[in-house]
Amino acid sequence: MSEAIEKTIRAGEILATVRVEVVSRVKPKIRLLEIAEFVENRIVELGAEPAFPCNISINSDAAHFTPKKDDNRVFNEGDVVKIDIGAHIDGYIADTALTVDLGEHEDLIKASEDALRNAIDNIHAGVDTAFLGGVIESTIREYGFKPIINLTGHGLMPYLPHTPPTIYNFKTDRGTELEEGAIIAIEPFATDGAGKVVERGETEIYSLINPKPVRMKMARDILKEVEKYKTLPFARRWLTKAPTIILSKLVREGLFREYPVLTEVGKGLVSQAEHTVIVEEDGARIVTGK
Ligand code: CO
Repeated sequence: MSEAIEKTIRAGEILATVRVEVVSRVKPKIRLLEIAEFVENRIVELGAEPAFPCNISINSDAAHFTPKKDDNRVFNEGDVVKIDIGAHIDGYIADTALTVDLGEHEDLIKASEDALRNAIDNIHAGVDTAFLGGVIESTIREYGFKPIINLTGHGLMPYLPHTPPTIYNFKTDRGTELEEGAIIAIEPFATDGAGKVVERGETEIYSLINPKPVRMKMARDILKEVEKYKTLPFARRWLTKAPTIILSKLVREGLFREYPVLTEVGKGLVSQAEHTVIVEEDGARIVTGK
């Protein structure tokens, strides 16, 4: 077995454990920060590192929400809570997500879970990603919901949690054929809204894309501190001191990429399900669960 496959599988086993442990902890009045820290600390305790900050996106938010330092926000009765978590060992990443229902949204959650299951059941070496998109879309539509068209499944490469191929959550004219041994994440999102996400003005996640010298002392300190994450996304709360004004400057100057919270444009509720799989000759091996 290659190093990439072996370490991805180990990272995936750790996430499979954390997935199970986190579900019962998401409850009304519990702080989001407590859950994010639980997930990130458990990944380390079990022998990996977070591949990106624990994303906790609620209701119409679909992705890229993570709490701030000292964040006091709590879960509420009725919330649809997406927990998206990543772990890596020496850069080899596993990525998984689940939705916790604090209300009565069983069908919305089953729509993304079934779409994920049906897509995985159709994976084998040579399958076209356009076909998988069609499977995901038709499953979600059978439940009466829409897939989110601008959030996708993706490849995973060392220290890069989002690489080609793109696996759309709807039927496209053209796709790419998945190769045996490819490590990919399948990630359907279902909504009762418009089926598209847009950025809203809140950013807590960044990554380093283009390291270059900077003059300002505080910017230099931040760059030094994030070096260890290489090209992986990190949370502002992980840093000692990171004022928005400095982070925005680093984004403007092209050193950092920012990941603003993505929210459903029709203010619909959003559910998500995700597993990392390894493409095999006749099927797929799920590394982040069963
Ligand atoms: Co993903």
